[in-house]
Order: sequence, then C-alpha cells, then structure tokens
Amino acid sequence: MAEAAIEQRAGKLKKELNFHNHRYYVLDDPVITDHEYDLLIRELRELENEYPQLQTADSPTQRAGAAPSAAFSQVQHRRPMLSLANAFDFDGLEQWRRRTRNLTDDADFNLVCELKIDGLAVTLAYENGVFVQGATRGDGMVGEDVTANLRTIRTIPLSLLEGAPNLLEVRGEVYLPVEEFRRLNEERAARGEQLYANPRNTGAGSIRQLDPKVTASRNMEIWVYSMGDVEGDGIGGAGPQQSHWEALGWLKDLGFRVNPNNRLCGTLDEVHDYYQYWLEQRHDLPYEADGVVVKVDPLEMQESLGIAGREPRWAIAYKFPAEQATTRLWQIGINVGRTGSLNPYAILEPVVVSGATVRNASLHNEEDIHRKDIRIGDWVVIERAGDVIPHVVAPVAARRTGEEQVFHMPERCPVCETAVIKADDDAMHRCPNALCPVQFFELLKHFVSKGAANIDGLGEQWCRTLIENGLVSDVADLYYLRKDQLLELERMGDKLATKIMANIEASKSRPLARLLFALGILHVGSEVAELLAQNFNSVDAISRASEEELTGVPGIGPKIAESIAAYFQDSANRQVIARLQGSGVRLDQEPAELAGDGDAPFAGLTFVVTGTLATLSRSEAGSRIKAMGGKVTASVTRNTDYVVVGASPGSKAATAERLGTPVLDEGAFLQLLESPPARSAG
Ligand code: IVH
Repeated sequence: MAEAAIEQRAGKLKKELNFHNHRYYVLDDPVITDHEYDLLIRELRELENEYPQLQTADSPTQRAGAAPSAAFSQVQHRRPMLSLANAFDFDGLEQWRRRTRNLTDDADFNLVCELKIDGLAVTLAYENGVFVQGATRGDGMVGEDVTANLRTIRTIPLSLLEGAPNLLEVRGEVYLPVEEFRRLNEERAARGEQLYANPRNTGAGSIRQLDPKVTASRNMEIWVYSMGDVEGDGIGGAGPQQSHWEALGWLKDLGFRVNPNNRLCGTLDEVHDYYQYWLEQRHDLPYEADGVVVKVDPLEMQESLGIAGREPRWAIAYKFPAEQATTRLWQIGINVGRTGSLNPYAILEPVVVSGATVRNASLHNEEDIHRKDIRIGDWVVIERAGDVIPHVVAPVAARRTGEEQVFHMPERCPVCETAVIKADDDAMHRCPNALCPVQFFELLKHFVSKGAANIDGLGEQWCRTLIENGLVSDVADLYYLRKDQLLELERMGDKLATKIMANIEASKSRPLARLLFALGILHVGSEVAELLAQNFNSVDAISRASEEELTGVPGIGPKIAESIAAYFQDSANRQVIARLQGSGVRLDQEPAELAGDGDAPFAGLTFVVTGTLATLSRSEAGSRIKAMGGKVTASVTRNTDYVVVGASPGSKAATAERLGTPVLDEGAFLQLLESPPARSAG
C-alpha cells in the first residue's frame, strides 16, 4: 500500500473505532460484535507499529498503553474549577432559591437537577475535536496533568463526533463503579491485602497512579456535567449557549457521557421530589452519589449571578445525609460478651454520621483490626448505613504521624483478669471464666430471657442488682433465692417479689431444649439445643456423651461437640448443673420414642408451625408437639394435619388455605395441647 493510502486507512479505522467505542461505552448500544471490534483494533495496532507516526494522541489504541510518568506536571486551568455551596435541608435550598431570585429581579427560571457524583472532578480539553489534555481540580486554579490515565477511561471520548468547536473544555466527575470497587476488594481480600475504604478514595487514587496500566485495569467511568471554555467554529450559532440543559444535550451529541438521570425542573417542589426519589434509590445506582446539584438553567442568568469566592451563586449542592465520616480513633476498648468473647470496639472522637452522633464503632476482632491495619490514634473512616451498627471501615494511612500504635488483645480478661484463650479455628479471643462478672451478667440476662428459662420480671436491672448484692453468682443461685432476700432489695415490692418467685418456680419445668439453651454453652443456640434434647433426652446423658456420640447427631459438628464436652468437663459447670437439679429444675424429658407410641395423643399427626407465637417460641411449640407424639415438618403438604399459625405467617398459611388443611391459631393450639383429642383404641 502506498503511504498515503495507509494513512487514509489508519484514519478510517480510528474514526470507525471511535464511533464503535461511543456506541458501546457511552450509548450502551453496540452495532458490531466484540470480535469484529477486535479485528479492527488489531489492524490499527499493526499499522501503528509499522508506522509509528500514525500513532496519534486520539488513537483508540492509546487507551491502555502510555509509559508511566515520573510525576504529574501542573496544569493551569483556563477557568477556575469551582466548588459548590451546600444545603443540608430543604430550608437551605429555599434560602438559596430566594437569594438567586432577589439577585435576578425576581426572574422565573428553570432549575436543572443532577446527581452529585462522589468521585473526582476532572477537566478535559479538546482541540479540533481531539482529546489533548485532562487534569484534576487541584487547588481550583492549578491541577495535575493526568491525561495518560484519563485516556484509559473508555467513556471519555478521545475524539468527538461531528460539530466540535476549535477548543472545548468540559468538566465532569470520574468515578469507580461500586461493582468494580467490590471486585477490587474481593481480589485484595483473597491476596490477604488491606481493603480499600470506599469507591471515592479508591477512584481518586486510581487516577493519580503513575502507571496508566493500573488506571486501565480499574474500569473507571465518567459523567460529564458542564462546559468549560469554548472557542471558535463549530458551536453552531446560538445553539447550546442558551441554557445549561441545552448545553448538556449538546455535549451528549458530541459523544460525552451525560447522566440520563438529570432533570429539568420548573418548580422547587419538583426539585424536592427529585431529591426524595434519589435519597431512597441511591443505593441501587451503580455509582455513589452524595447529593443533588441544583443549577440555574439559563446561562445568561448564571453569568449575571456570578461567583462568590470559590462558589458559583447559580448552583448549590443539596447533600444527602452522609453515611461515612472520617474521625480520630482514640482508643480501642474491650467488651466481654456472654460467651466470654473479648469484643474490641473503637472509642472515637464524636462525629455526626447520617444525622446521629457516633462515639463508638464495632471492630469485630483482632484479626480484622490487623487485616485492615487499624492503629490506635489513626484517622479512620467509619460507616453507618441504615440501621446497621457503625463500624470502622479503614484507616486513613496518609494522615499518619508515626505516633499510632499497633493494637494487641490483652492477655488477661479486662474484667476478671483470667488468662485469655484463643483457639485457631475461632476468630475471637475468649475469657474462659464463666463466672467472670460481666460474662455472668450477660449469661444471667440470657438465662432469664423469653426464649430460654423465661423468668418474667427479672429484667436487666434486677439481674444487675442480684449480682451486685451477692445474691446470685451462678444461674443455679436463682433457684435458692428466698422471697425475704428479694424484699431487702431497694425498690422491690411484695407484689413483684411474689411474681418473680412464682416465675422462677415455673421455669423449673420449661422444656429441656430451652433450659439447655439457657445454660449459654458456647455454640449451643436454640436449634442445637433442640437437637440435643431430642437425641439425648437429658442433660446427664449429654454430659456423658463422647464427642463421637455428639457428632453422630446430624447438625452437630466437631466444633460444637468440642465445646459441649469442654463445658461438662469444667467442674464449676458440673456443680451448677447438680445444684439446678437439686433445686428441682427438670433437666430431662420423656424420650422422643413417644412419637412412635400409638397411644400418644398426637401419634400419627403431622404439624407445621409458622409465624410468631406470643406465648411460646416455634421451637418450644415443636417440642410440645413431639412430646405428645406428633411430628413437625417444615412445609405444608397434603400429609399435613394441622398448621399452627402465629403473627406474620408468610406463605405457609396461604398454602394451608389452598390445600384446605386445618389451621390453628395460637389459642386453639394451646387448647389442643391442654385437651388433646381422645385416641380411639387400636
Ligand atoms: S457542578 C461550578 N455537577 O462536586 C460547579 N459538580 O462540591 C462545579 N460534582 O468539584 C461543579 N457531581 O467534583 C457539578 N453533577 C455535578 C457534580 C459535581 C459531582 C462534584 C464536583 C465538584 C464538587 C463540588
């Protein structure tokens, strides 16, 4: 091929590839297959390798390639890159609107609402339609030249479509999509590396990489939100210059990625609706938005409103309540939990997150603290999304002074000073002393709770009082309490003391599974307790069972078996059990063989229990049915005899209705338990 023909071919390929890039990345509507695209780009690459002079700055081959630069050079912005004044509520927005009205002789004008993308502001310069330079905001006047990195972002056009002016500067927000952020962190977790804190910081870091290949690997994106300088031909008469809304349309036509969620609003009520809508929907966006930017639409009016300091008077950021904040981690405290776990938590410089002041945040365990490399004295990012307990996301390593201290779990329990233990397969450090006062307080609260021994009247405060007065130092002590001892306690009246004594007495005959659960054995939750009760029928039998016998029960693994065995090996625990039995607490039940007993009242009957019952838990209802010889299954079929329905039952009640299965409400079920149907002989 003659040189001129080669140049022509390369030009054609570039144009075609740019067209397809725009279809694919900006419009999401490709017109050729990936394979066809690959063939075109390969041909162009080969031509450019042979004739390097063809490798122009706007060539689609330049997306991922340039050599790392030593540092970024500085770029003086043609027009300053401004920031925005904030409104934190609708009042603030109304005030802004009033001010702009006063300054424009009460003119009526449209407002453009845009999502405020939480990314990194950039400015892109195009000469004769070709992308020549991209820079960060920097201090607003001078930024960093990150052209090579921006070239790797596929939604930034390297050359514009028809109608580009001689010089065009646009501004927009570059960001890391949430999905990409997750992917990066998954990869880092798999390699055991420290996790990134949030998409914003990770995205900003990705643009300021010295090696553009790193930026290229991050799959970043851009939304273009305004025009900067425009010079020369191609503007097309009055064209886009009338309003911001039209300018956005024009930028889109030139090939820029303009957010389709932008809205032109006639009234402040519409702005309010837009804000409310995105406040709720923002978590479903594939990028992070931290508010709504409201802009005066007529460009002439923007001009006359002008700038105050660094902020234009014609725009305002109406912020969503923040869900993340940065603050100082002063100390790491330790809470001792019911099962003896030492739970570290961050003691923070108080900070407002999503409208609430946060002083403490959870830190999970030592391993997590070290994996995230959180140190005492660090600046940290904390997050409070929805109702979730605030947690520390990551340290801000760049703000370290060198004074920060690496955290180590204490070797002794901060409450009772017993040496702490840490098993290899357990993420938590634990205090093994079941009588550790804090641990015991947690255990006592658990023991008396509704799903366990259910001793009504003994709330958290009374549990504390009993411990503080030395009346109860293990759970068996409850059953040796005398009423006169209770009456000596401050604020205890005769009525309450009588009630508590009666409830303690009643708790002696709770179903075995619930009493087992009440003991607070590590890893024995209500379901495991149910399995143990069904398979062993008594605490004695469980205490005698070997680990092999325990793991012989489907649903009980070696970790649970080990913990059960350890519990019963402990002499203090054995004493508690003996004293419970000595006081008359029933730690056994009728063997489950009753199920096969044709004389049992519920023999041959199959029940399904669904929804929340008021007086007993589902597992307790199940135990009662089984104790009377019935069977309990999870789903309603034609073989189901009764469906017991509590509050918020879900689909099982509907299935029962469809199949015509008898439904029992809680009252009817309790009655059936009290007076089961007589069984006919034989
Ligand atoms: S307009 C003169 N529109 O918010 C106004 N900014 O707090 C310049 N931002 O530095 C900005 N989304 O990085 C505008 N739709 C949007 C935006 C947006 C995000 C960022 C931008 C700016 C910062 C100001």
